[in-house]
This record gives sequence, C-alpha cells and structure tokens, in this order.
Amino acid sequence: MKGSNSTAPFDFVTSGHADPKHFFSQAADDIRARLLDDGAVLIRSARQCRDPGVFEAAIAALGFETRDYVGGSSPRSTIQGKVMEATRTPPDWSVILHQEMAYVKSPPEIIAFVCVEPAGKGGESVIGDMRKLERLVDPAMLQRLTERGLKLRRTLPSEDRVGLKPGVKKSWQETFSTHRQAEAEMHCRARGWDFEWNGADLILWQDCISPMRAHPLTSANIWSNQAHFWGAAAMIEWALIDGREQDARELMTAQRENPLLLEAMCFGDGEPLPEDLTLALFHAVRGLEQDIDLGEGDILLLDNLQYAHGRRAFSGNRTINVIIGNWAGDQSYAVQG
Ligand SMILES: [Fe+2]
Repeated sequence: MKGSNSTAPFDFVTSGHADPKHFFSQAADDIRARLLDDGAVLIRSARQCRDPGVFEAAIAALGFETRDYVGGSSPRSTIQGKVMEATRTPPDWSVILHQEMAYVKSPPEIIAFVCVEPAGKGGESVIGDMRKLERLVDPAMLQRLTERGLKLRRTLPSEDRVGLKPGVKKSWQETFSTHRQAEAEMHCRARGWDFEWNGADLILWQDCISPMRAHPLTSANIWSNQAHFWGAAAMIEWALIDGREQDARELMTAQRENPLLLEAMCFGDGEPLPEDLTLALFHAVRGLEQDIDLGEGDILLLDNLQYAHGRRAFSGNRTINVIIGNWAGDQSYAVQG
C-alpha cells in the first residue's frame, strides 16, 4: 500500500485570507490524495473554518459525504448542521487513541477536527498510525479474534443503581425518557440494537465485527475495533495514567462487585476478552501516540481507518469542532489490484 511507512502528517499550509470554499475546492484532489497516502493531513491557519458553517462547507468542498453520529458512545452534541463538539469528556481525562466508532459495522471513513480555541495548558491532539498495529499483535491472538469476532457490550443501569457505575452515570430511564421497560425495548428495536435485561439493568450489544477492516479505497486490512479500550483493566490503567485515583478505585470496586455494570469488549459469543489481552492491546496502542499541536484555525484531517485520534488532558477552555464522513465523490485514487 502506498505511503505505509509515513509517520507524520503532511503540513498543508493555507492562507488565512483565502476564500475557504474556493481554496478547498481547488486543493481537493491534492488533499484527498495525500490523505489516502499518508493517512493524516494537517491544514494550518484556516481561520475562517472556526465558524461551523464555513467548516462544513470546506469539508463538503473536499468532496466528503458528511455523516451523523448515530450509535456513538461519546457524550457530545451537535453545534450546527453536521458539525459537532469534539467530546464532553472532562478536561482532566485524556482521551485514549481510537478510531471513531470502530465498534460498529460501518464506522465513518474520515474525521476532521478544527481548532476553534486551543487549551490554555495541555490538550494536545494525539494521533496514532493504526497500520502499524497488526505487526505488534500476536498472530495466534489475531487469528483467535478473527475466528470468534468482537462485540461491544454496553450497560445502561437502572436509575436506582446508576450511582454504582463509574464514569458517565446515565440510566436507561434517562436515556430513553421513560420508566417502562417495554418502551425502552421499543427504542432499542427501532435503532436495531440487540439487548437483554440483567435484572433491572439494560445490556446493549453492538455489531459483531472482525478485528481488521478492509480500507474502502485501497482494500488494505487495518486493525480497527477499540478492543484496547473497552474493558475494566484498560479503564483502570487509563484512570491511573491520568491520575484519576478515585475513578480507578470506583472501577476496581465495580469490576469486583458488579462487572456487568462496566462496558466490555467481548468475543462474538459474548465472553469478555481476557484482561491480559485487553492490557496488551492498550499498551500497544499507547505506543503509537504522536502529539500534534493545533493552533487557532488548524484542521486535522484523518483517514479514520489509517489513523486513530485522542487528546491529552488539559486546563482552561479548549474548543475543537469535528465532522465525520465518508470518502464518497471521485474514488479514482483507489489502488487497483
Ligand atoms: Fe473520537
């Protein structure tokens, strides 16, 4: 595959005075080709794209088909059109490298971030070249995961038990605005989610996926699943790295006393992945981290399969807007054969 050895995103400088729509239309072929080759493109000083309408028009001018964040796990809200806030994960939490929505069958193919306001301290964006991960995992383990598949288990506790769950405390009653289990089930069915009840808690199952995914344009097989993230062992490790000791203690308690309250990446038959595997993957992915400093108006454009993204913890304000989408448009860059 072309560009598989590249390690750093390409800097593509734009004038802060250029008309963004014109600039992005003119540069679209070059940017798309570089994104496909390198997996990541950095466009500096597109200051007008701090405005959500201009950002959305710029991404559309690049020929990408924008998408909604349906079925995603991160707390976030839409700002305007298809432009969303990056995440509401608290500032003192880092965000572990991940490919957006990699636990569903059809995740977005590209993701674009624009820096509206950099953090006062910390908050660097982090990216990681996921093309390298396959070489870091044990082939026998990859074969086992490929044969059994992966399925993310998520839990929405009942409101009287929601306090037992570490992290985001959202009950199924609050999620679906109802106290009737039958109504919650109706909402799940309408969204095509598999579900079951564990006592009064609602367990949701995402799609069964393969650990590797074929790139839509090059057909290269790339690691893409978030198994390094969804598991108590990884979440405890993450909390300790961030210095969130209270969270780590709550996670350990839940892991010991109420393991089904915690999300878990499972084999396709529902058995949670073993802890040592989750931790090995967690550290392998952490080893891919590269910091990227985004200034006002900088756009980080990632091929969501080739590159994962995350961020460092920060203090002060930090505003990053995001758009997810698919390649769409002219697919003539696809590698033939
Ligand atoms: Fe994300």
